[in-house]
Amino acid sequence: MSHDTLRDLSQNSLVRRLGVPRIPVLRRYAPGQPLLDAPALVGAVGNGRLADGVRALLAEAGVPEAAEAEKPAAVVLDATGARTLDDLAAAQQFLTPAVRRLAPSGRLLILGPVADPGSESTDAEAAAVAQAFEGLVRSAGKEVRAGATANLLVVAPDAGPEALASTLRFFLSARSAFVSGQVVRVGAPVGPVEPGDPARPLAGRIAVVTGAARGIGEAIAHTLHRDGATIVAVDVPAAGDALARVANRTGGTAVQLDITAANAPARLLAHLRERHGRVDVVVHNAGITRDKLLANMDADRWNAVLAVNLRSQLAINDALLADADLLGDSARIVGISSMSGIAGNRGQTNYAASKAGVIGMVRALAPRFAERGATINAIAPGFIETAMTAKMPLATREAGRRVNSLRQGGLPVDVAEAVGWLGQAASAGVTGQVVRVDGQNMLGA
Ligand SMILES: NC(=O)c1ccc[n+]([C@@H]2O[C@H](COP(=O)([O-])OP(=O)(O)OC[C@H]3O[C@@H](n4cnc5c(N)ncnc54)[C@H](O)[C@@H]3O)[C@@H](O)[C@H]2O)c1
Repeated sequence: MSHDTLRDLSQNSLVRRLGVPRIPVLRRYAPGQPLLDAPALVGAVGNGRLADGVRALLAEAGVPEAAEAEKPAAVVLDATGARTLDDLAAAQQFLTPAVRRLAPSGRLLILGPVADPGSESTDAEAAAVAQAFEGLVRSAGKEVRAGATANLLVVAPDAGPEALASTLRFFLSARSAFVSGQVVRVGAPVGPVEPGDPARPLAGRIAVVTGAARGIGEAIAHTLHRDGATIVAVDVPAAGDALARVANRTGGTAVQLDITAANAPARLLAHLRERHGRVDVVVHNAGITRDKLLANMDADRWNAVLAVNLRSQLAINDALLADADLLGDSARIVGISSMSGIAGNRGQTNYAASKAGVIGMVRALAPRFAERGATINAIAPGFIETAMTAKMPLATREAGRRVNSLRQGGLPVDVAEAVGWLGQAASAGVTGQVVRVDGQNMLGA
C-alpha cells in the first residue's frame, strides 16, 4: 500500500503556509472506542417521529446532549416529518449554527422523509422537500471540514427506531470514516430485528468472503472476525498461502476455489453445509480488472472480467436462493461494486459494465431475498489505498486520491466496516441499496 506523504506533510503549519491545505487525519474505529468522543446535538422539524429514539440510542451509548456552546461530535436532524418549504427553512435554521460548531471528524446526519412519488395523492411540495434534503446533504458534505461527513437516511414510515439503530450507529461512529454524501433508504425490516451487542454485532454469524487472500477482501475477513463472525475465506488456489494466513489469523477456514468454475457454487455450498450447516453473510468481493479501450477490447478480457465480477455473483446467489435451508434466518448478501460502475472510467468498459451489473443484480434480487428474511446490497468503493492503486503512476494516483470531499484515499478497512454494518442481523431494513465508500468522490452522480 502506498503512503499518503502529502497528508503527513500537510499537518505541518510551515508546509501549509506554502498553500498546501491540511488533509485531515480521519477518526477510525478501534474496539472499545466510544460511539462518539464528544456530545451530540439532536433536533427535529415538522413533527419528526424518530428524535426520541435517536436520543435513547445516544443515551444508551453514553453520549450526552451538547450544550449551547459545545462543539458537537454529531449533529442529527430528524426531518422525517418535513412536508413544507417552511419545514425545510426550519431545518436550515437548526443546521447553520450547528454545522459551524461541528467537531473534527464530526457527523452531520439527517433523517429524511420518503418522497412517495407514484401515488395519486402525492403532495408535490412534500415530494420536493423530501428530495431537497438530498441536495442539501450532498452540498453539506462538500462544505464540512476536518474529516467531517454528511449523510442522509431516508426512513420509511414503517421503519421504527429499532430498524434504524444499526444504521444510525454506523453513520455516527468512526466506522463510517470514508462515507460521505450518501443517501441510504431504511425501510420496513425484512425480518425480526435482533438488537445484538454493539461491540460485537456479528457474534455467532458465519461469513463467507471471496477474494479474501489480500487487499479489501483480507480487510473484510479481519473486520468481520473482529466483530464476532466466523470466517470462511475463499480465493484461487494460486493465492493459497496468503489465504491460509488470513484463515489462520481469523480462526476461520480457507476454501481454495476459482469462483468462475462451473461447480464453484456447489462446492462452496457443500463446504458451508458440512462445516456450519448454514451461512449468514456472503461477501462477493473477488474482482479483477483487464483494462483496454473499447475500440481495442477483445473477448478474452471482456469475458474474464464479467466472469469474476458479475457472473460468479449471479451464480452463487442463484444457488443460495435455490437451496431450501442453507440461508440463515437473517442472511445478508453484499456485492462489491465500484465507483467505475457508477461514473464510468476510461479503459474500463468491461470492468464498469460488470460493476454496474452488480448494482442491477442487487436491485433485482432484493425482493427475492426479502422473502427469505434476507437482504442484498452493493458497496461501491472509490479510490482505496491497496496494492492495485499503489501501482498507478504517481500523477494518476495523486489525482485519484484528492478528488473527493475528504481529499485522501480510503483504506481497505473503510470498505470492510461498511460490509460489517450491512452484514448485521439488525440491518434488516436496508436492502437493494448501493452505498459508496469513496469520501464523496467528485466523479459521477
Ligand atoms: N482497490 C480499489 O481502489 C477498488 C475500488 C473499487 C472497487 N474495488 C473492488 O474491491 C474488490 C477487491 O479489490 P482489491 O483492490 O482488494 O483487489 P485485489 O486484486 O487486491 O484482490 C482481489 C482478490 O480476489 C481474488 N480473485 C480474483 N479472481 C478470483 C477468482 N476467480 N476466484 C476467487 N478469487 C479470485 C484474487 O486472487 C485476490 O486475492 C474487487 O471487487 C474490486 O473490483 C477495489
